[in-house]
Amino acid sequence: MLAKQNALFPFLYHEFFMTKQFSIPRGTADIFPSEAGAWQEIEAKARRILADYNYQEIRTPIFEETGLFRRSLGQTSEVVAKQLLELSSSGKEGFSLRPEGTAPVVRAYVENSIDRQESLTKLFYIGPMFRGERPQKGRLRQFHQIGAEVIGPNTGNPYLDAEVIALNVNILKAFGLQGFRLKINTLGSCEDKENFSNGLRQKLAAQRSRLCEDCQKRLEYNVFRILDCKNKECRAVIEHLHADYEHLSQESRDYYGRVKEALNALEIAFDEVPYLVRGLDYYTHTVFEISDTSLGIQDALSAGGRYNNLVSELGGPQADAIGFALGMERVLLAMSSEPKPAASALTAYVIALDENVFPKAFHILNMLRGAGIPSDIDYKISSLKSQMRSAHKAGSRYAVILGEEENKRGVVALKDMATGNQREVGLTELREILKKGKV
Ligand code: HAM
Repeated sequence: MLAKQNALFPFLYHEFFMTKQFSIPRGTADIFPSEAGAWQEIEAKARRILADYNYQEIRTPIFEETGLFRRSLGQTSEVVAKQLLELSSSGKEGFSLRPEGTAPVVRAYVENSIDRQESLTKLFYIGPMFRGERPQKGRLRQFHQIGAEVIGPNTGNPYLDAEVIALNVNILKAFGLQGFRLKINTLGSCEDKENFSNGLRQKLAAQRSRLCEDCQKRLEYNVFRILDCKNKECRAVIEHLHADYEHLSQESRDYYGRVKEALNALEIAFDEVPYLVRGLDYYTHTVFEISDTSLGIQDALSAGGRYNNLVSELGGPQADAIGFALGMERVLLAMSSEPKPAASALTAYVIALDENVFPKAFHILNMLRGAGIPSDIDYKISSLKSQMRSAHKAGSRYAVILGEEENKRGVVALKDMATGNQREVGLTELREILKKGKV
């Protein structure tokens, strides 16, 4: 037919098909050489930290049987119900581009009986994911994740939850991100989760008429999805829900308590958000999300949680598991809105650890300036952490730290801001080192 048309209208055929300019599919992006460096840098940093935590790389196909996602993420999750990009197939079995990495990793774990080879498996992946979303800033149809999963029978240990969250936070910090917020919650065991959903249904059913049409339906088939609804009236209803943890068994409560203790021990700051439930069905117990307001509406940089039943639901042994995935495009967006150090960066940023040593720190500052070394000081004597943040913002190459101990011994701690290396030096040595610009 086409050949016949071609013969009849050679000119038109040429116009339409030979000169057509193709465009990139909506919701995808080309990464040009000018941007590729930033991608490589965050990949390299993440790989280094993941190796420090003993994670090994896994690469799975970018498409899988559609059933894998339906079973793992849940038929009624937004990702499955609305966003799966299915590949048309003439065979019986349908395939879909992977919308996330957890289900494929678990499929590989089960299919290869990895539980028989090792008691705890720590895997990471880096690669493209696909969701048929309505594209907007930070929301793409092809996006990239760096994800990590820990799987093993009898490994439900609150310290592991804290380790995975700390790993996620430390990777973001290594990217230079600072302004993010970690939110955590627990869904409890499968039974607790069922109670949670029933309780929530009861509370929301009492206000059914205030909910949007979609949420009225969600009341029947997946009440948790109502918590993510962006409709103004629904949000007002959700914000006024009284949060309690009555659905949790004592065991789940204790587990959650120990996760929080372990996070405190690791000095990881977090906010508890009792209605954080996450949009994928496989989660149990700890769930978390890391958001950054600089991203606007799509503010989640990263997210994850426990999924202690997924391995057995996919035909494997009873195994506990937890993981997270961060969105690389969102990380790069957040990095681009993070304040950059001025081009004319300082050489030294003097930090006084308390009021008593401030006069000496001030003296050191002026000695350095006198020697022609661009220097500044934090006049607000706050914690070391917050003064280090100021040093970072000022773009200083070095921090010169003075505490009571150093003051007594006539030395300072000299920290290289780029490498984190720190050593003690006397004042004359300090001046000479900074003049040369070398540690
Ligand atoms: P998720 O919350 O669906 O979780 O996605 C994780 C991260 O991927 C998000 O926080 C976001 O940064 C990024 N992301 C998701 N969708 C898009 C999109 N359309 N465009 C750009 N970035 C996006 C998961 O995928 C789970 N598999 C995480 C996990 C691992 N849970 C346990 N292990």
